[in-house]
Amino acid sequence: MAGRKRVFDLLRTIDIASCQCPAHSHRGNIHVSNVVPAKDYAFEIKCSTVRYGLGVTKEVGMDLVNLGAKNVCVMTDPNVVSLSPMKAVLDSLTKNGINYKVYDRVRVEPTDSSFKDAIKFAKEGSFDSFVAVGGGSVMDTCKAANLYYSDPGAEFLDYVNQPVGKGKKVQVELKPMIAIPTTSGTGSETTGMSIFDYEEIQAKTGIADTSLRPVLAMIDPLHTLTVPERVANYSGFDIFCHALESFTAIPYNERGPAPPNPALRPVYQGSNPISDVWARFCLQSLRKYFARSVYNPDDVEARSSMHLAATMAGVGIGNAGVHVCHGLAYPIAGNVKDFVPKDYGKEPIVPHGLAVVLTAPAVFRFTASSDPDKHLEAASLLGTNTTNVKQADAGKVLSDTILKYMDTMKIENGLTALGYTRDDVPNLVQGALPQKRLLSIAPLPQSEDDLSKLLEDSLTIY
Ligand SMILES: NC(=O)c1ccc[n+]([C@@H]2O[C@H](COP(=O)([O-])OP(=O)(O)OC[C@H]3O[C@@H](n4cnc5c(N)ncnc54)[C@H](O)[C@@H]3O)[C@@H](O)[C@H]2O)c1
Ligand SMILES: [Fe+2]
Repeated sequence: MAGRKRVFDLLRTIDIASCQCPAHSHRGNIHVSNVVPAKDYAFEIKCSTVRYGLGVTKEVGMDLVNLGAKNVCVMTDPNVVSLSPMKAVLDSLTKNGINYKVYDRVRVEPTDSSFKDAIKFAKEGSFDSFVAVGGGSVMDTCKAANLYYSDPGAEFLDYVNQPVGKGKKVQVELKPMIAIPTTSGTGSETTGMSIFDYEEIQAKTGIADTSLRPVLAMIDPLHTLTVPERVANYSGFDIFCHALESFTAIPYNERGPAPPNPALRPVYQGSNPISDVWARFCLQSLRKYFARSVYNPDDVEARSSMHLAATMAGVGIGNAGVHVCHGLAYPIAGNVKDFVPKDYGKEPIVPHGLAVVLTAPAVFRFTASSDPDKHLEAASLLGTNTTNVKQADAGKVLSDTILKYMDTMKIENGLTALGYTRDDVPNLVQGALPQKRLLSIAPLPQSEDDLSKLLEDSLTIY
């Protein structure tokens, strides 16, 4: 019986593969096949062009000339606007005779209101290209501004992920966007994602479409030398969780269903051999450079390596995806109480990297049974000796490894340190449930009780 099913699955796979190849499909006019296999059988890797080098920002003006740009919208935040990365960008634009306008009101951990303010600014200009100079908050805001500038008739929720918004596929052509990250964390410079806090539901959601991806990611490690300790720390844990989550995500050929047309294959496809290369590289880099980069701001080698690792992890998550830590992080950040982290301004916020890592020890104890060898490999890449460790102990070993890093980096002692109590757990679970796009990429399904337990286990972590 099982053999017959395998043959049937194989025939369906061959059938789909033969009629959906690029030679027979019609790009631009989405043809939808009637036969939809239960599991996907393919994955693809998309990525912005990445240019890496100390001081490479000086080239941005020439890139804009090469793109034919005449009037550029430069986006940044109120802090980065007066730092050296912005000076380097504006010098290069001026030197190359490019007209520009600067928008410097990006909110750190953006919201729908702050996105709308940036969109309004873009719509009031007449721009032919966008440049984002800053961390994930700036790059994500710039992607949204570009999208709604390019489709001025769209309602804000049209493109926001379901079930919060309508999740419409982008059909308009966006203006070219160049991303110049100044933190080492999100990898947003290579992804088609734009994340914001939707104030009405007090949880993060986003827009996910490959068209949002910047045409060029300029990775200039010089910009990281001004990053303060806590920002280097929390954004480093964003890289950490990106690598671990994309590495342990459900394998692409276990996720389903296959899309009825390749253009409809989701942005998050599950782990695959190519994303695994990026994840392994990142885990090794974190082992070598994470603590050095946090505690030695002048260590150019460590800060440069973390900057590259962030982009590498971004390519991994941009195609494989992230899962439970990120799904739980969105309500943890969205329901912020009175936690005001050092180095992030005066507003209460839960920095993204902190929100994701607090549940990581519990999450990887939970997911380890799906593939103990891969969880052990991750622990080993992070520096733990896993010789003779039993498969049954994989979750504990990886979790202990993560806790060691968190302790070294003086991460707060669980959700309690952010002001959450056991009474908040049901509300946090309700905030996580709409993050189906992320939770479905986990290697194991989770019930509401599972999510509650993961959060309860993360109230106090040491
Ligand atoms: N789109 C994606 O693929 C993706 C992935 C992960 C996270 N995110 C999102 O990115 C946001 C977090 O971004 P982030 O962690 O990069 O931080 P951030 O952009 O929020 O910036 C954090 C702080 O660092 C400061 N800063 C930035 N660069 C600096 C520099 N060079 N020197 C001194 N200070 C500097 C900023 O002014 C700010 O105060 C969150 O909203 C998160 O949800 C997006
Ligand atoms: Fe992240």
